Amino acid sequence: MKYLPQELIRKKRDGGVLNDAEIGFIVKGMCDLSMTDAQLGAFAMAVVLKGMNMDERVSLTTHMKNSGEVLNWSDLDLDGPIVDKHSTGGVGDKVSLMLAPIVAACGAYVPMISGRGLGHTGGTLDKFESIPGYNAVPSGTLFRNTVKNVGCAIIGQTAQLAPADQRFYSIRDVTATIESVGMITASILSKKLAAGLDALVMDVKTGNGAFCATREMADEVAQSIADVATGAGVPTRCLITDMNQVLGHSLGNAVEIIECLDFLTKPSEADSRLLKLTLELAAHMIQISGIEKDFNSALSKAQEALNSGRAAERFGQMVSALGGPTDLIERPLNYLTPTPIIQAIPAKSTGYISAMDVREIGLSMVLLKAGRVKSTDNIDHSIGLSEVVQIGQFVNVGDPLAIAHVKSSDDLSMLSSKISNAITISEGESGEIWSKNDLIYNVLTSNIE
Ligand code: URA
Repeated sequence: MKYLPQELIRKKRDGGVLNDAEIGFIVKGMCDLSMTDAQLGAFAMAVVLKGMNMDERVSLTTHMKNSGEVLNWSDLDLDGPIVDKHSTGGVGDKVSLMLAPIVAACGAYVPMISGRGLGHTGGTLDKFESIPGYNAVPSGTLFRNTVKNVGCAIIGQTAQLAPADQRFYSIRDVTATIESVGMITASILSKKLAAGLDALVMDVKTGNGAFCATREMADEVAQSIADVATGAGVPTRCLITDMNQVLGHSLGNAVEIIECLDFLTKPSEADSRLLKLTLELAAHMIQISGIEKDFNSALSKAQEALNSGRAAERFGQMVSALGGPTDLIERPLNYLTPTPIIQAIPAKSTGYISAMDVREIGLSMVLLKAGRVKSTDNIDHSIGLSEVVQIGQFVNVGDPLAIAHVKSSDDLSMLSSKISNAITISEGESGEIWSKNDLIYNVLTSNIE
């Protein structure tokens, strides 16, 4: 069917509902360039202003998913379900690194296609690229063999996967049109559903470090994703989780790999919020993909995979299968070179850590080139922060708020001032009042399940 792009834009601008053929025409225009950037930007703005109903969201998701390669695992004769987790992005969010091997060690297959960091949030792929030799864009054969033989492979998005979204997202990014629940749903799910999953768990972050800054928006995004994915035949569960403080104790890239290796090899010493979130997400993946019927059994299975060292073993196997060193777990410092300056950032007063401006903390990493402004920017994998304090913690004046990993004294003073300003220390009788910061606010399933 042939349409005039401007007529479809006009229809949406005036509050009309586009049918499946009309949305298919627009998605074709994203791929064959028959719609210009200006037309796609105008279409995106019309959607931001007028919204999309559920049928339109399903159409947009399905057409964008089908705009490129859709992975099919059936010929590999895998003896377990294919399941993945996606996070809407956070600061210090390294959960995927431990989660994929834990769930693989429980009998599932996790082909995790993840992104690079953009803006104040970090990207899983950037963390892996701190490991020398790790090939984040392997051939299709190496990716499939790694999933089959190890149970998990964490790689980057290829140009063949949902190419319509790749162009449309970059236009939305520069036209102030990201913030639409319908388009966010289609953008995330087109990529995830193209990976050929049996089930999906979403971690929708909310708080001052998340792009869903309010609970209201997070609830709306989560419900929409659960409904559209389940409607498309992929059972999906969405957790709404806190991003009002750095997740875990480190941020950056190589320093987050070190935290991940410590987590996998010494789980009893792991940050308690990071441990709880990772294990709960793992349990949801194990339950929703049918490996365990009961949530508590799924949780025990995930705990056992971690505590026994089997998850660490899978992580090591995945790294070496994808070209990284075979002894990263035993000798991480042979590969993850430290910065010349590793120095504490001291607290300026005594009291309880009561709040964090997580977005500012994330942006301080971008300023030091541990993150990027444009998708083409190069980053410095060695820069970061470790031992970041947590909300509710008591500090005396002079105690470290974090340890800076930087390359010059100018960078150290810039980072010290950013971190001191972003972390609030309050006087009070007890840390209790500051430690009520919930971690998992809600778990949503589809209304149409
Ligand atoms: N992440 C995506 O992949 N797409 C969006 O639209 C928003 C976040």
